[in-house]
Amino acid sequence: MMGAVSRLVAALAAVALGACGGGNDDGTTAPGEKTCQQDPTQPKCAVPTTTLRGLASAKGRSFGVSVDATFFGANPAAYDVVVAREFNVIVAGNVMKWSSIHRDSRYSYRWANPDTMVAFAQTNGMKVRGHTLVWYQQNPTWLTGTTWDPETLKVVLKEHIDSVVGHYKGKVLAWDVVNEAFNDGTGSLRVTGSPWATTLGAGYIDLAFQEARAADPAALLFYNDYNLETPGLKQDSVFARISGMKSRGIPIDGIGFQAHFQVNADATGVPTKETLIATFNRFAALGLKIHVTELDIRVRTPGATSAELTAQNQGFANVTAACLAVPACEVMVVWGLNDGESWVNTTFPGYGQALLFDDSFSRKATYNAVSSALSAP
Ligand code: XIL
Repeated sequence: MMGAVSRLVAALAAVALGACGGGNDDGTTAPGEKTCQQDPTQPKCAVPTTTLRGLASAKGRSFGVSVDATFFGANPAAYDVVVAREFNVIVAGNVMKWSSIHRDSRYSYRWANPDTMVAFAQTNGMKVRGHTLVWYQQNPTWLTGTTWDPETLKVVLKEHIDSVVGHYKGKVLAWDVVNEAFNDGTGSLRVTGSPWATTLGAGYIDLAFQEARAADPAALLFYNDYNLETPGLKQDSVFARISGMKSRGIPIDGIGFQAHFQVNADATGVPTKETLIATFNRFAALGLKIHVTELDIRVRTPGATSAELTAQNQGFANVTAACLAVPACEVMVVWGLNDGESWVNTTFPGYGQALLFDDSFSRKATYNAVSSALSAP
């Protein structure tokens, strides 16, 4: 039987044989220039000798990517090989959310897509982050279209957590147990649109963490949100909530900073390394692990200036360096492999190019910013 390491080496070798990008390392393909699909013998098409997963591992960290079912599995020779070559953590962009995995009715689940992703992770020596068990968005109509009495809704929530966490027991490093439970601005409990907060109040948060712990005691349990990276009322609110959970004995192991950043037209908008370190340390002092869970940095498109692109690269370097500077920060994940698949393109019109690879699967300047920061002494 092959050991885990030799299996990994074999998988990476297979990946290396199949890997082939197009365009330049800075993400451009000059007019008339051949892509690597057209001519894989060009020097620019050489498979990199270093990878994000290799560089991160050397620093005791893991580096991951979210994948969407529309892309993952659809283009195995290009998309999937880069995922396995570069990353050692994988996250489902959508297929573990209620609207996908628990779409049809209370007692039926759609395991096929997430099972395929988890099997891919195991074959390629990757860890899995589970995303997400409780959220106000992407819920099925059988759930949102029913008026539940609180006791029944608690049972429905527990059933879901038992089923999903139980199904993947022993195969998931960390679950985003509760996602985006607090409002921007004030940091008050997010009620609008949430069947959980509407019917159960803030108590659903404790309940979800307790149930997840019972379903897989070995999985790390995370609270995950955005706009927590810089100081403010929302950060304070989440800090107070988790402090309270800790003092009440509610099981919580970590906090996920989504890290969806935007470079503005004046090249501002990305937090400094120092700000990020201070934030990570604030939460690490509660005994929490830190994961950067959904990193992307969008720029204006078309027409981002070189100052904006420089700020974008600096942003990726800042996040990476901040994670390396804080021992509790163990995992960084980018939200999508290549620019074309990013949620940014539809959610933030006028912005894009937010990721590390272009649509020919070539490494961009943003990739080089991350790999340089990972390589720094
Ligand atoms: C996004 C997905 O990437 C999209 O494909 C989907 O249409 C909407 O959700 N915060 C989260 C993620 O926690 O689950 C979201 O993912 C992006 C924002």
